[in-house]
Amino acid sequence: MGNIIIAGNWKMYKTQAESLVFLKSFLPLVSDTPSDRQIVLCAPFTALAVLSQGLHGSRVAVGAQNIHWELEGAYTGEISAEMLRELGVRYVIVGHSERRQYFGDTDETVNQRLKRAQQSGLTPILCVGETKQQRDAGDTERVISTQIDQGLMGVNQDNLVIAYEPIWAIGTGDTCEAKEANRVIGGIRKRLDNAAVPIQYGGSVKPSNVDELMAQPEIDGALVGGASLEADTFARIVNFQ
Ligand code: PGA
Repeated sequence: MGNIIIAGNWKMYKTQAESLVFLKSFLPLVSDTPSDRQIVLCAPFTALAVLSQGLHGSRVAVGAQNIHWELEGAYTGEISAEMLRELGVRYVIVGHSERRQYFGDTDETVNQRLKRAQQSGLTPILCVGETKQQRDAGDTERVISTQIDQGLMGVNQDNLVIAYEPIWAIGTGDTCEAKEANRVIGGIRKRLDNAAVPIQYGGSVKPSNVDELMAQPEIDGALVGGASLEADTFARIVNFQ
């Protein structure tokens, strides 16, 4: 795995038609991107097939935003590893704070999803991060340590990406200071068995702050929400200086 990985998280945005419009403008803008940078688009399930087709032969990989831990079964509204793999998906976001907050994901289900993704040959992107309240109470390290330790029980650290996403920085425009993000990510790395796991920063990453974030020694990439929806903006992020 290359060490730098920039992933867009489209959340619940973009139809198939909108995804194709994005690709048309985006691909030419990343044709000169240094080859050691892995680019990933994590799209809604309904857009994965057209993205996979449109990205075939390109250096951009397709990612999903959730995965169930069972191979198949009576799990209305969920998606299986095989369904994703069949569509050419290679990455999957697991434990995003929005899944934890609105859809009941816990460290235990996150752990199960991570293991299934790996067993099925996908690379999971594990998201961790603290709320504003937890940060203000001085609980950041404790919260993240728990998410890391419980989330990663029995997980193979050779096929894994982690994203540090302070919840107060997601979708707020309020980015975590680059040095502080670097500090927390360094702390996460110390808890890992494999120090080479790529660790991204996520939370209001944009063209105006990506260069400073990516200049930090501990930060191996970015997980980008809002700013990944526009081709030129996301291309500028991928092509950070
Ligand atoms: P944002 O979202 O870039 O819009 O803050 C990041 C994320 O939720 O992954």
